[in-house]
Amino acid sequence: MTKLSRSLAVLLSSAGLLFSTAAFAQVDEDAAKLLFKQNECGKCHNPSQNKKGPSLKKIAKEYKGKATAEADLIKHMTKGGKVKLDDGSEEDHKVLDTKDAKAQANLAKWILSH
Ligand code: HEC
Repeated sequence: MTKLSRSLAVLLSSAGLLFSTAAFAQVDEDAAKLLFKQNECGKCHNPSQNKKGPSLKKIAKEYKGKATAEADLIKHMTKGGKVKLDDGSEEDHKVLDTKDAKAQANLAKWILSH
């Protein structure tokens, strides 16, 4: 093998590795938590306790096994619309401040992982 073809082979195999990890992308927990915090979602949602809104555990449970779960959550987080708070009052649901589809999907995956 020439030096060039060897480095080409290394390059190709690492590209393949990159590709395969992207295909099985794990949730980027830190990014999701940061986005959640920056958007003040935590004012109403706690991982395990119901606050003004349902806990993330409760949301994950409701959507468990639903094929459209991720898309449904993204829709909910980006479209707004009225929600009923625990005290019975109604409010427009907070809309995520990012239009980055990847970040939205990552947040949805993170919520569903509870
Ligand atoms: C003012 C309180 C409040 C804030 C802030 C808030 N939510 Fe909610 N959220 C609610 C309530 C109340 C519900 C329950 C809606 C219902 O079941 O009708 C809800 C429901 C949800 C659901 C479940 C939707 C469903 O269809 O079951 C998700 C996901 C969600 N919120 C994500 C977020 C994210 C992400 C943020 C931050 C961008 C956020 N929420 C900020 C109150 C809030």
